[in-house]
Amino acid sequence: KPVVVTSAQEIRQYRHATQATVALVPTMGALHDGHRSLIRHAQKHADLVWVSIFVNPTQFGPHEDFDRYPRPLDDDLAICRNDDVDLVFTPDAHTLYPPGQPDVAINVPDLANILEGAARPALFPGVCRVVAKLFNLCQPDIACFGQKDYQQLAIVRAMVRDLAMPLRIVSVPTAREHDGLARSSRNQYLTPDERPRAAALFKALRLARKTLADGHNDPHTLETAMAEILADHGLDTDYAVIRDADNLQPVQTADQSNVALIAARLGSVRLIDNALLTPT
Ligand code: PAJ
Repeated sequence: KPVVVTSAQEIRQYRHATQATVALVPTMGALHDGHRSLIRHAQKHADLVWVSIFVNPTQFGPHEDFDRYPRPLDDDLAICRNDDVDLVFTPDAHTLYPPGQPDVAINVPDLANILEGAARPALFPGVCRVVAKLFNLCQPDIACFGQKDYQQLAIVRAMVRDLAMPLRIVSVPTAREHDGLARSSRNQYLTPDERPRAAALFKALRLARKTLADGHNDPHTLETAMAEILADHGLDTDYAVIRDADNLQPVQTADQSNVALIAARLGSVRLIDNALLTPT
């Protein structure tokens, strides 16, 4: 335990050999407590939990961190063993992208061209393509995604709905460090000096929620408050915005149903986080 599967043929065999329900947790590895929370939720929703580990080249832009993205496979397998994962799917790039085949694009234009998609044009077409492949190979009944990647979750839900993919998407709340920093495989790039300042994203999200609760419902007031906190901690803000929680479009008046989304750079690291403006 767990079984480790690398080929497409083998994963299909495992799926056809069982009548049990399968929950898939797609990851790029470097597993942390956020991924482990997905695994725990998956265990509640299905008989078997399968974790895929694949650093997907098509979702990285040419100047992004594909090469330096951490790949601690032995540690990841130890976590999966400890957490009672039933199967780990670790395909190589040729298995998911056989050479010599024409590329196919899946896109969700209204959701994928804004925010993260504007900053990283390769990201969501790459995510949709690999997630669709993983769904078709593993044929899960359920797949778990983190709210940490709010826009990704919205795009995957839209893809599943529009293409009538036969599975249910389960969303899992963001797992955080003690100071509120959302857990991420990229946090390990932060230097000891940068690490405490990274909590500014969480502080900004909390301030947005509090400012709304205090009666300020102009989205620009909330956005300015967030940008100021980020700047105070020496972060470069890509965006710090209040959006409609479903379609991620700007709102005229902020309310508790909206979501605050942030992307900010700290040294060489780009961090994202988000929170619904519902009072806690
Ligand atoms: P990765 O960054 O490894 O994340 C895998 C899953 O873990 C995603 O659903 C993500 O939202 C979730 N996750 C990450 N950090 C989390 C946290 N702190 N709390 C809760 N969930 C968290 O996202 C990807 O990989 C890839 O884009 C993928 C979907 C695997 C496609 O390649």
